[in-house]
Amino acid sequence: MNVLVTGGAGYIGSHTCVELLEKGYGVVVVDNLVNSSAKSLERVQQIAGKDLAFYEEDVRNRGAMDAIFEKHDIGCVIHFAGLKAVGQSVSMPLEYYDNNLNSTITLCQSMKEHGVRDIVFSSSATVYSGDNTMPLSEAGSRTGMCTNPYGWTKYMCEQILRDTAFSDKDWSIALLRYFNPIGAHPSGLIGEDPRGIPNNLMPFISQVAIGRRDHLSVFGNDYDTHDGTGVRDYIHVVDLARGHVAAIEYMLGHRGESVFNLGTGTGYSVLDMVKAFERVTGQKIPYEIVDRRPGDLATVYASPDKSAQLLGWKAQYNLEDMCRDTWAWQSKNPMGYDS
Ligand code: NAD
Ligand code: UFG
Repeated sequence: MNVLVTGGAGYIGSHTCVELLEKGYGVVVVDNLVNSSAKSLERVQQIAGKDLAFYEEDVRNRGAMDAIFEKHDIGCVIHFAGLKAVGQSVSMPLEYYDNNLNSTITLCQSMKEHGVRDIVFSSSATVYSGDNTMPLSEAGSRTGMCTNPYGWTKYMCEQILRDTAFSDKDWSIALLRYFNPIGAHPSGLIGEDPRGIPNNLMPFISQVAIGRRDHLSVFGNDYDTHDGTGVRDYIHVVDLARGHVAAIEYMLGHRGESVFNLGTGTGYSVLDMVKAFERVTGQKIPYEIVDRRPGDLATVYASPDKSAQLLGWKAQYNLEDMCRDTWAWQSKNPMGYDS
């Protein structure tokens, strides 16, 4: 079966393309490279030893999407394409709503036109409200009350897909709510390559380690956690990628809407991450405690039980693996794909 992967040149998309190719799926990528490099796809093919098809197009371009569906016999879509920087979404809300909502709507219209009804969507733990108790579960935790436009785009796209599946029982949609993906392919050939100053913790730590940044700013040490710093559910990106393959396999036998958390169920604090990274890599990470970052929660972690039961999927990599593979990628590619 051929899988259309939107945003396949990006961080999670490229790792998922490797897993798909290795499992024998044909892969067709569409990506406008707004936040990625086509080199990632060369490396994907190198790792898998197989070719994929790539189109440098915007998913909002209906004509381009129709042409891709006409050219390839697509069985299923994984929709990663989107803008994802929380802070940027606050200053550029219209760009975020335009890109993330219109890409999803155009994609679904083109799918409908071409008889493709299976879609896996990159959602986020950010769709859960801030007032839940942990762990977050698909059925038991509240969603909504998002704190930024990025989070609302994920919430709204979930609703668009849910309504589409409700309107036509042939559709199968899997909404995958990612927790905090980190790490890289163990080969060190592909990984996360943020543009500018990284927003997220792990890319920042690894850029400090390689000497691109002086020190890490730790956003608050007065949270109600074991050491006062924020706790998150970090998941190895290869585990996350395999969750998508499991979702595709599940969808073959199920119609309608399904929602799955992709997390490990274990939380680590910012300082746990710094210490683990130092221990595994031998690199010192100087840090300074600064004010809390607005909008951050003390603790966020998943219940991974539903994914284990229904997808037969469970994260396999541990914190040491995540740190080792982050460092393998960063040290082999100090300036990312431009190295
Ligand atoms: P990424 O930026 O590396 O990948 C997204 C890709 O989509 C990029 O290659 C970008 O060029 C492409 N893209 C964006 N808009 C496009 C458009 N209109 N047409 C074509 N291509 C377009 O991000 P990622 O970390 O790989 O995230 C993938 C998805 O997962 C995103 O939807 C993101 O919101 C979601 N997600 C990410 C995280 C995370 O922490 N990384 C957490 C939860 C959810
Ligand atoms: N942190 C720092 N210093 C930094 C960066 C982060 O101390 O330079 C802290 C944060 O305060 C937080 C933790 O490290 O306690 C993790 O922060 P990230 O920015 O790496 O991740 P978030 O949990 O804030 O958000 C991420 C994605 C969101 C996504 C969410 C849930 O950025 O898009 O995970 O999936 F919605």
